[in-house]
Amino acid sequence: MTAAVRMKLLVTGGAGYIGSVCAARLVGAGHEVVVLDNLCTGHADAIPAGCRFVPGEVAEAGPLLAEGFDGVLHFAARSLVGESMTDPQRYWWGNVVASVRLLDAMTEHGIGRLVFSSTAATYGEPQSVPITEDDATRPTNPYGATKLAIDHAITSYAAAHGLAAVSLRYFNVGGAFDRHGERHTVETHLIPLVLQVALGQRDKITIFGDDWPTADGTCIRDYIHVTDLADAHELALESAQPGCHRVYNLGNGEGFSVREVIETCREVTGHPIPAEVAGRRPGDPAVLIASSERARADLGWKPERAELSVIVADAWDFARRKV
Ligand code: UFG
Repeated sequence: MTAAVRMKLLVTGGAGYIGSVCAARLVGAGHEVVVLDNLCTGHADAIPAGCRFVPGEVAEAGPLLAEGFDGVLHFAARSLVGESMTDPQRYWWGNVVASVRLLDAMTEHGIGRLVFSSTAATYGEPQSVPITEDDATRPTNPYGATKLAIDHAITSYAAAHGLAAVSLRYFNVGGAFDRHGERHTVETHLIPLVLQVALGQRDKITIFGDDWPTADGTCIRDYIHVTDLADAHELALESAQPGCHRVYNLGNGEGFSVREVIETCREVTGHPIPAEVAGRRPGDPAVLIASSERARADLGWKPERAELSVIVADAWDFARRKV
């Protein structure tokens, strides 16, 4: 995508997986990008070429914002469901308090445009699938609760201060772009873990439960390619309207079971990938599938790398490159 208008943008969390892909694509579209990241989970070498890097905390972004920006894309966050259950203060301080301070600094310095990384975890156990943005938000873990709290804060700041804001609720993100992919120090996500088996870095993949109420008994998720997600951020940034906070789900509207994901990884890698079944993981909903009709209709968003095999193949290229 080429930007209609060149903007000066702050990308918080631009050293992380999704933040670095989005920052790289924003630079490619012609924007001026400044990355703010404390590197607690991100990697300095993931910060895209062409970005200015400012090490630091989101909660202390005020002096940086004082230099003037057209908008902020706020990715920096703690994002592990399990960790949020055992260490909630890290999530309430690191996600909510830091984000409110960011909103205050944006208000103070007249920065009127925000795109925020929200999550499917704001919905909790869905009443029905696909999940729409009008469905009930009943998060089942502190991670989802903190993201929902920030969404509420953004709504009130938009109404009171004229902020043009969009929250994007990601479902299960995968794939890679260029040299930017998923590499968490503690990996918990299914696709990178399965690919670690194919690389010989672990013996087998553990399936968390095969007694779920689904066709093959394993959990179903909606996988979206990180570059399609990045496109949605650019569209959201351009379409944001002052005084308005809009929320969009981002997924492909199709669910794949854990077993189907593992099978796709076998096909892509040519590796047998041994799997064993263990008990359910606490906090997992059985099925999460997004309705992204609103994003398609309002933003004109159209995913281009929707097939699971493409998402896995791009993640595999990235995983092999690191070895
Ligand atoms: N899974 C396994 N074995 C593993 C890892 C995962 O069976 O070793 C299963 C999980 O139980 C789940 C599915 O694979 O059923 C996907 O798990 P991930 O950890 O890859 O992703 P989640 O669905 O748990 O998490 C995603 C986002 C979160 C978001 C959440 C909403 O990554 O940010 O959806 O529920 F909060």
